[in-house]
Parts: sequence; structure tokens; C-alpha cells
Amino acid sequence: MNTLKRGEASPYQLTTELDAADEIRSQAQYLQRAEGLVLELKSRLGRVPSACVVTFGCQMNARDSEKISGVLEQAGFEMTEREEADLVVYNTCTVRDNANQRVYGRLGALHAMKKKNPEKMIALCGCMVQEPSVIEKIKESYRFVNLIFGTHNIYKFPELLCRMLESSEMTVDVWNKTDAVVETLPVVRKYPFKSGVNIMFGCDNFCTYCIVPYVRGRERSRASAEILEEIRRLSADGVTEIMLLGQNVNSYGNGIPGELSFPQLLQEAEKIGGIRRIRFMTSHPKDLSDELIEVMARSEKICRHLHLPVQSGSTEILRRMNRKYTREDYLALVSRLRSAIPDLSLTTDIIVGFPGETDADIDDTVSLVREVHYDNAFTFIYSPRTGTPAASFEKTMTDEEIGVGFQRVLEAVQDEAKKNVARFAGTTGEVLVEDRNEKDPSLVTGRLSNNVLVHFPGDASMIGSYRMVKLKENRGFYYIGELV
Ligand code: 5AD
Ligand code: SF4
Repeated sequence: MNTLKRGEASPYQLTTELDAADEIRSQAQYLQRAEGLVLELKSRLGRVPSACVVTFGCQMNARDSEKISGVLEQAGFEMTEREEADLVVYNTCTVRDNANQRVYGRLGALHAMKKKNPEKMIALCGCMVQEPSVIEKIKESYRFVNLIFGTHNIYKFPELLCRMLESSEMTVDVWNKTDAVVETLPVVRKYPFKSGVNIMFGCDNFCTYCIVPYVRGRERSRASAEILEEIRRLSADGVTEIMLLGQNVNSYGNGIPGELSFPQLLQEAEKIGGIRRIRFMTSHPKDLSDELIEVMARSEKICRHLHLPVQSGSTEILRRMNRKYTREDYLALVSRLRSAIPDLSLTTDIIVGFPGETDADIDDTVSLVREVHYDNAFTFIYSPRTGTPAASFEKTMTDEEIGVGFQRVLEAVQDEAKKNVARFAGTTGEVLVEDRNEKDPSLVTGRLSNNVLVHFPGDASMIGSYRMVKLKENRGFYYIGELV
């Protein structure tokens, strides 16, 4: 039996050493109790209580939100996307400060709604609340928040939900680490036909700008047998596209004797019937092995898209970021990828304005963007995060200079993206239809294996199916297509 070890003593921690199997049983009981409490709320309100989960940030948070929604739905809430709901959960991100500011702003709006609906409950979870300074601020200035819980104890959400439903006090349960990997909550998938699958949690890389290792904890891989079983269950439930999730999937299994490597895990996942597409995210360039490139090149199911964050094109800035590769290493890796998988789409993340960066470093980033021919890139202005090493590095550029550098990088990114997307014009590819088009209901929207978005005439009955579509009109970052 696995033993869950509690994290370091935390002022907020409420539980001591627990046994995993007991924990699973105990949370199932809490979920039943929550059902009773929701029924009571229903009779007080005279209607079915509604709940809304809002996700900020990355795919890991999106997956956590599906677990939170799964518990809420099973407890009896009616799920909605409207924040007027009786319960609103903000699943937060803290990777950059503007993500925190957005949450504070929106909490103000929720407060106004709560004044009109005194039964309204507000819960905060995710990476932002792993920061002690955030908890202090919420306790001081946002007293109306009912529940705060962190990234390490989501598996206790049924219990926390009961506590919130039974108490008028603010409940705070945030741990600063855990060794536990408990994956037992019911899940409501946003899409019936595609799903994220967590393969690992946390990160050990300590890039000097990044808060993730502090808020998500040390790297922990799930057992491959459990992951594959989850994929089999998803497949039986109608899922055809999976996205394997981790902060650094290429180091999957490291440090676990006898565990599969990431390429081996992919090969096993590929054998599972019913799964047609496999994606994964995120890859750290320093750990992307030749074995993985070979597995991708041979695979029929692994999608022709790789998100490979570069962060900077300057070797000196990469060194200061503790990325553990040089510009040349990265370019060599891209060239190995391109020669093994010629139809691969590459996307990346870039930070501009890192302390010590000069215009010449930004020139290096621009030239790297031009050399790699990215299909897309997320470009961010560096945001100092308290507690990370780079927060104490000396700032060298003014905000204005950073803004000019950012524009230069953005222009190169957009120009390359446009050119690269254009290379698919006139081709026919298989699209997994995901949704009705938001703006034009006569269109449906889906993605090619290489992640390019395609809109084409169709109806809701096509959602979840794979269709051959000819790419007719290039609209910059997406295509208008036609069924063939
Ligand atoms: N400032 C700006 N961008 C950051 N990222 C991570 N930390 C920071 C920060 N402090 C970006 C990186 C990462 C992406 C998820 O967010 O580019 O790859
Ligand atoms: Fe952050 Fe670096 Fe880990 Fe990515 S690899 S989560 S950027 S520390």
C-alpha cells in the first residue's frame, strides 16, 4: 500500500500522515456527504445550485479543473460558464504577475455579485494560492472568499467542499509539498472525445525566472501502468485524442527504477485501440532524446506538432536562465527533428526583458525565430516572481526598451507564423472536429494533426469525428476549409 507523506509543516496544513487507500475511501464518503449538503442548499434556494469553474493558465490547470468540475457535478451542482453561479471556483495561474492581477480584478466583480446573492460561494485554487503572500492578501482584503486550496491537495476536494458548504468561515488548506500522486476523483471532461492525461507533476529544472518548481513542487511521475490504464478507460469512454501532460514530459520516469522512459510510454500508449491521436506537452529541449525523435517519426498516432520552448536565442541569456542548452544546441536539435519528421510543426515560448538582456540578445532571439520558422510562438515580457533567483538579478533595460524589443520579436514571430501556415494552402488533411464555430454557427472548428485550426461548413453532428478537409483560404493563423 502506498503511504502518502504529508509535506513540510505548513501553517495551513490540516492533515497528518495518511494512507492512500483510506484516503480514497474517505473522499468517496465526503462526496456522498457533499451530495446531501447540496440537496439542503437546493431546498434553501428553491432551485438546483449552479457552479462555474474558471481556468487560468496552462493545460495542467485545465485538467485539474475537469477534476474539480467532476466532483461538483457529482455532488449535484449544475455546471455553467456564467460567473453569476452559486459557486465560482477560480483555478489560478501565477507564472506571470499579470495572471495574479487578473484574478484580483475579477474577485472584485464576484464580490459585487455576492452582495446580491448571499448564498454565493467563492473558491480559489491553483498555483497562485501556493504563494504565502497571496494567502495573506486574500485574508486581509478579500474576506468574502470561502475556500482556498492548493495544487497538492486537489484529491481532497470532496472534503474541502463539505467544509465550505458547512461553514461560514474562510477555509484555507494549502500544502507546500506532497509526494502523493492520487488520481481518483470523478472527472467531467470538457470534450467527450479528447482528454489530457497527467503523466507527471512538478518540475525540477529551476529555470531562474520560473515559479513553477516552487508552486507545483518536485518532479513526480505517475506509474506507467496507471497512466496506460487511464488511457484504456478513456478510450472505452469514447476518447480518441489524448494529450500527455507534464511540465517536462521528456524526463518522465527519471529516478524510478524499472519505469518506462517517455518514448517507451508513448509506444505503449500508441498500442491502445481507439486512440487515434497522441499529443504531449511540454518538452524541455535539454531532455529531448534521439529515441523520442525516432518514435515520433515512426508513429502513426503521435501528432505532427511539438511545443519546444526556447525562451531566448542568446546563449548568454539561456545560461542566466539556467536552461542548460545553448543556441547552437537548440538549433541542432531542431535540425535533427526537421530531418526526421519533415512535416513537423514547431511552436515555442519566448521571454523578452530578462534581467541582463541587451538589444544584441534580442537580435539573437529574432534571428533564431527566423531560422527555426516557428508555426507559432507565445511571447512574454519577463515578470519577476518573488523567491526565484532572477527576481534579484539586476534589471538592465527600461520598460520602454523592453517594449520595443518585445515588438521586434512579436513581428518576427507573426511574420514567420503567417509564412509557415501558408505552406499548407490547398492541401487536404484530417481534422478532428471540436466545436461549432463561436462566431458563425454554419461553421465547425477543428484541428489538424499539426495543430493548425480549420473552420469549415458543417453542423454539430460532426463534433468528435475525423473529417478530410481541403484547406482553401489562409486567414493568417487559421484556415477556412471544405469537406472533401
Ligand atoms: N516571466 C515571463 N514569462 C515566464 N514564463 C515562465 N515564467 C515566466 C516569467 N517569470 C513563460 C515561459 C514558459 C511559459 C509557460 O511561461 O516562457 O515557457
Ligand atoms: Fe518552469 Fe523551467 Fe520547469 Fe518549465 S522547465 S516549469 S520554465 S522551471
